[in-house]
This record gives sequence, structure tokens and C-alpha cells, in this order.
Amino acid sequence: MFELKRTANCGQLGIEDMGRTVTLNGWVHRIRNHGGIYFINLRDRYGNVQLVVDEQASSEVRAIGEKLKMEFCIAVRGTVRPRPQNMVNKDMQSGAIELAPTKLKVLNSCPPLPFVLDGEDEANENLRLQYRYLDLRTQGMQQRLKLRHECTWALRKYLNECAFWEIETPTLIRSTPEGARDYLVPSRINPGHFYALPQSPQLYKQILMAGGIDRYYQLARCYRDEDARGDRQPEFTQVDLEMSFVGRDDVLTVAEGMMARIFKEILDIKIPIPFKRLSWQETMENYGTDKPDLRFGLEFTDFSPFVASSNFSMFKKVLHSGGTVKAILAPGAAMSYSRKKIAETEEVAKSQGAEGLAWMRVSNEGLEGGVSKFFTGQASKIITELEAEAGDLILIIGADREITLRSLCEIRNRVGSNLGLIEANSYSFCWIIDFPLFEKNPESDTWKATHHIFSKPQDKFLDRIEDNPGEVIGDLYDLVLNGNEIASGSVRIHEVELQKRVLKLLGFPEAQARKRFGFLLDALSYGAPPHAGIAIGFDRLMMIIAQKNTIREVIAFPKNTQGISPMDRSPSTIDENQLTELYLSSMPH
Ligand code: AMO
Repeated sequence: MFELKRTANCGQLGIEDMGRTVTLNGWVHRIRNHGGIYFINLRDRYGNVQLVVDEQASSEVRAIGEKLKMEFCIAVRGTVRPRPQNMVNKDMQSGAIELAPTKLKVLNSCPPLPFVLDGEDEANENLRLQYRYLDLRTQGMQQRLKLRHECTWALRKYLNECAFWEIETPTLIRSTPEGARDYLVPSRINPGHFYALPQSPQLYKQILMAGGIDRYYQLARCYRDEDARGDRQPEFTQVDLEMSFVGRDDVLTVAEGMMARIFKEILDIKIPIPFKRLSWQETMENYGTDKPDLRFGLEFTDFSPFVASSNFSMFKKVLHSGGTVKAILAPGAAMSYSRKKIAETEEVAKSQGAEGLAWMRVSNEGLEGGVSKFFTGQASKIITELEAEAGDLILIIGADREITLRSLCEIRNRVGSNLGLIEANSYSFCWIIDFPLFEKNPESDTWKATHHIFSKPQDKFLDRIEDNPGEVIGDLYDLVLNGNEIASGSVRIHEVELQKRVLKLLGFPEAQARKRFGFLLDALSYGAPPHAGIAIGFDRLMMIIAQKNTIREVIAFPKNTQGISPMDRSPSTIDENQLTELYLSSMPH
């Protein structure tokens, strides 16, 4: 044990400790030298306390005090005393007291800092990641990691109450398709053979159900070799769960209960449940995305009926060639959206592939400006249909369906935030259900699974999977929060014959299916129960709760946008002999 081991922490001291002699351990957060009197702000995970080294301090304490620098790790003993009245700091938990050290010891020194620990947001992110141990000392990072810890604690309690068992599944597994590329790990003792790191525990959780576990969950690490973005990391965490003898709604109810519990316990916010449910079809039609931000309205209106009876030839051509024309109504934006701002908004549409953005203003007289001259005959119908009022602005996109949806969705999000329609600290959850089960791979003209290949078609499509795969709706569901996909799951196929049919459709004829998924097919064939599950993207959930816009802010050691960890410089090259041992040939570097 070291000398001057702490008897209290910096966060717990207050006026009630007056006269108490305590030993504190922590870091020098700030130092001010007022004419030979040193005010030292000492920090630990629990809070801050002011130390004062003045003329009354022993020469030994003064000698050490004078040498202290930012982030020195120190131990101090002293008696808690009141601060002079004019020095009381109401913003600080220990703002009414200070400590006059009778003993002071440097436990470790620290060189000049690469960035200021007070202003984390201003520091360059790569620098923060390179010196993550310093960044982790900042109040922001500590608060977020605490929040994350509290959330895992709350959800573990909740899932335990719901009879889930926490079970770990392996991270060296056989490669299974989940949509991204696998990270592969060569096996030294099985030359030429590779493990994959799991993209998710999907197959294992299904096999746990076949194993009679009934309710499983895990805070699972998942690995996907894809480009890192704000809401994506090559390595991330899911709250993964699976349930037996249930249907879709049972899973949704458990997930809703978990969200309600977390928001109540962590943010003291009552989230209304059940969440709104939108079919994939209607959410695409109304918001142009399968992850709509429902903190504001601005739903799309189908503008094609007005185009058909207008003389706007450009949009007519769009409809003629099978395209789509949709509009949104920006309330009260007629004045605030100057021509310049409309031009900027048009750029947003163009960045998504649209050729332009049509607009018109609503006035007491009807429609004005932009493309209004083409719609004079229908002004009142348009105004009624869009429930428009004088002072509103109508924004219209006509293009190929996908482009219309994508660009109007982008515009909707911009307009929503520009017009201040997003209330601060508001949380809007919704389920997107009834996704198509399969989609065409445009390059290869083959079918692929929209979610994953283990999801079940809804019963009414069971006998026509092969006839028209594009029409098959699956029991798939995504949970969306404030425009972010925070969870995804499905009812699974539990019958081996159905699984084989789906695998065949997706390009795995029997022999191949057996080779790759033989263990799953066997497990299903041995009386696997009906089962369903979901995985919550825990980092994304935390990002939203912590009100940050990248998941890197809620992960202790994330990779940067190039997939690199600037602290330990991974990924790194490896020694020639390591390669040889793994039967790999060397790469150029
Ligand atoms: P899915 O692939 O949709 O489903 O993932 C579930 C949730 O995980 C989050 N997520 C990510 N978060 C950070 N970085 C990433 N690279 C990343 N990729 C996904 C998202 C997503 O909604 N096995 C299935 C789940 C199931 O069917 O039960 C699965 O992994 O929030």
C-alpha cells in the first residue's frame, strides 16, 4: 500500500466535513498562482476540490506545491476548512470549502499536455484518440462512460426480471453471412483454416433456442469489416436477445419495456409505450426512408395527381417514365426561405441525384412564385390537400422513385431542423415493420435477404416465396429513435425445410447450404422451437442518450474514421515469422 492512501474522494467533501482531516488522491486539474499563494484544483472521478498552499503551509508542502503542473498525480492530506465568503463557488459541489495541505506528495509527474482537458470538444479528434488515457479523464468522457455503465446495469436488471439468461457466445466462429465482410483469423494449429469474428451472434442465439434456453441475452461484441462512419464502427456492441415460443409482438413488447426502463432510470423521462408502428411501405411513401425522424411532421404528399392535370411538362415526363413526384409543406417558410436558401436546398436535392427542386409559396391569393404558374388551375385543391396556409412553402421533387424519396427525405430533415421543428431533449421512437424479405442484387440480378437469411416470411406468403420473391413480406422489425436505426430483428425460420427453400432462393443449393450451414439445419431439424429476437445497437442508443453525433464519443477505445486506433496504432504490420507461423505469405508494406 502506498503512503497517503485516500480516506475520502474529491466529490464527497462539502461544508458538513468542516474540520475533518482527510487524505485525497487525484490529478492536478488547474493551478493558479496568486502572488505566491497556490490554488490547486484537485480532481478525481468523483469531483473536484480546491487545495490552498499559502504562507502558513510548511516549507516542505510549499516546495512541492510550487513544482506541481497540470495532470500531476498527487496525494494530499489536510483539514477541510471554509473558503473565505468571497471565494465560495456555487457551481462546484465542494465550492464552500477548501483544503490546506499538511502533507503533499507527487505520485507521478506529467509532461506538458497535448491538448487542454477542459475543452474536449475543441481538441482534434485524432489527438484525443491518440492520448485516449488523457481524454478519458475529461468530464465529458467520464460522464458518458458512467451513463453507459448505468444503462448496461439498468438493462441487465430489466432482462433478468424478464427471465432472460446472460450467455456468452464464441468470438472465434465459422464465417456466417450477415451482410458485411468478415474479419478473419488464421488458425495456426489448423493450417489454411480461418475463424471469422462474429458479425453478430445470430446463429448461436438461434442454436441456444434449439438448446431449450428459452430466453437469452448478451452484451455482444460484433465485428464487421465495413467503412467506419459516425454511427458505424468495425467493432461495436449489441444488446442481443432471443426468445422461444413467441411471435413478433412479444419481442417488441420486451424491447419497448427495456427502452422505457432505461429512459426512466437514466434520464428520468417517461417514454410512452407501445411505440408507433409503421409499415415499411408507408414509411417509405411518407418519409422516403426506413428510419424517419418523427420528432417532426413534414410528411410527403403524393403530388402526381396535380401533375397529371397541370401543364408542367417536366414532371409529366417524370411520371410518364415511371417516376414519382412528391412534395412537402414547410410551414411558415415562405418568407424565411429566400431564393438563396431555396437554391441551397436545391443543392441538397441535387447531391442526392435529383435534377432540381420545384417550389411555390402559399399566399392569401393562392400559389405564387416558382412553378406556381403551371398549377394555376389546381391551386385551391393543392392548398386543401396539403392543408397549407398563407406563408407556407411547398417543396416538390419529381424524379425516378428512389431519387425522389432519397432527396425529399434529405430535404425534410434539413427543413425540420432549419425551421426549429425539433424540440430539444425529445425522443421519438417508432417501429418499422413488414419489410420486404428479399431484394434484388442489381449487379448480379440475384436475390438477397433484406435483413438476414434466417428471417421468416409472413405466413400468407409461405406458398409463393419462389414465385415472386420481391413481394414477400417478412416478419422483420427495426426500432427507430430520432431518425436512427437503433435495433433490428425478426421472427426466425425454425423449420428446416423452409430454411432450405429460402437458402436455395438466395443461391445456396442443398449441397452448398449443407456445407455452410449444416450445423444450423441440423439444429433446426432436431425439434427447434419457434423463436424470434432482436439486437439493439447499444452504441447508437448511447450516442442518442448522451446527445452526441458519433458513437465514438460513447466508446472508450473506438477506431477513427479510417478504422485505425491512433493510440495503439492498430491495425499494424506483423513480423515475418508470425506470418510464417500462420502459413500466410508476406504483404508489401
Ligand atoms: P443488424 O445487422 O441490423 O442485425 O444489427 C442490429 C443493430 O446493430 C447496430 N449496428 C451497428 N452499430 C454500430 N456499428 C455498426 N457497424 C453497426 N452495424 C449494426 C444497429 C442495428 O440496428 N443479428 C441481427 C439482429 C437480429 O436479427 O436479432 C443483426 O445483427 O443499431
